[in-house]
Amino acid sequence: MTNRPIAVFDSGAGGLTVLRRAWALYPGEHFIYGADSNHFPYGSRSLSEVRTLFLRFLEFFIAQDVKAVIIACNTATAAALEMAQEICPVPVIGVVYPGAERAVKTTVNGRIGVLSTYATYKSGIYRRAIGQYGQKAQVVQWPCPVLVTMAELGHTETQQAREAVRECLNMIFPHEVDTVVLGCTHFPHMERIFYEEVGERATIIDPGYETARHLPQVLGPLSSGPGGSIQFFTTGNEKDFNRISSSLWPDAIIEAKSITWTPEGLKSRL
Ligand code: DGL
Repeated sequence: MTNRPIAVFDSGAGGLTVLRRAWALYPGEHFIYGADSNHFPYGSRSLSEVRTLFLRFLEFFIAQDVKAVIIACNTATAAALEMAQEICPVPVIGVVYPGAERAVKTTVNGRIGVLSTYATYKSGIYRRAIGQYGQKAQVVQWPCPVLVTMAELGHTETQQAREAVRECLNMIFPHEVDTVVLGCTHFPHMERIFYEEVGERATIIDPGYETARHLPQVLGPLSSGPGGSIQFFTTGNEKDFNRISSSLWPDAIIEAKSITWTPEGLKSRL
């Protein structure tokens, strides 16, 4: 069990913000990162389309004999968490619930802002999850797809990114939220800007970080290393993925393998 890898999934480079946290906490573990870059962005797709796309990856991960699957994508969590948990022989963990729980524990005035993709916003998953942990909390949501595109292109420190973050925050702060959930895993790539723009007005919650911390509760003790590893797979162009991902996570060595859909499932081209 201990040597089996943990799968981490996103539509693109957003899930790296979750993997980076997990890797920092458990550097003795083996991770497989899967990015469905060919179908990015998920946020503008229907939930049923996202579910179908994610379930292909789930098969791929199961074939790699993983010991758990982290859906490091809020949109795919909204679309497929429940079904994945039903059909997968190993634990499947979505980023939404650990983030919602932390937000409920953090808020003082009971007003929680959630920024996400359009699909996550429409799904209502954060409202349900927050309601599950704190009946009285009021949820103010806003979709910010432009931030997803910017992060995926590696534009995380630009003036344009700052203005886009400010615009999204301006949609929720009039509702006096004291807690802001970064409800898309692409957003923590812009965390410096978020922290500067939010300032003292609210506490920022990163559901990816909460998920990484929550893992031992599901999987038992995890290895703090050394000796772990990370393998990267993308359905897109591996050179583009390596270039952008390395700029977003400069400490990591990112050499992805390209995988493609075949009638027998997702297969590596190498
Ligand atoms: N990073 C993903 C999320 O957390 C999806 C972004 C997208 O593909 O639109 O929702």
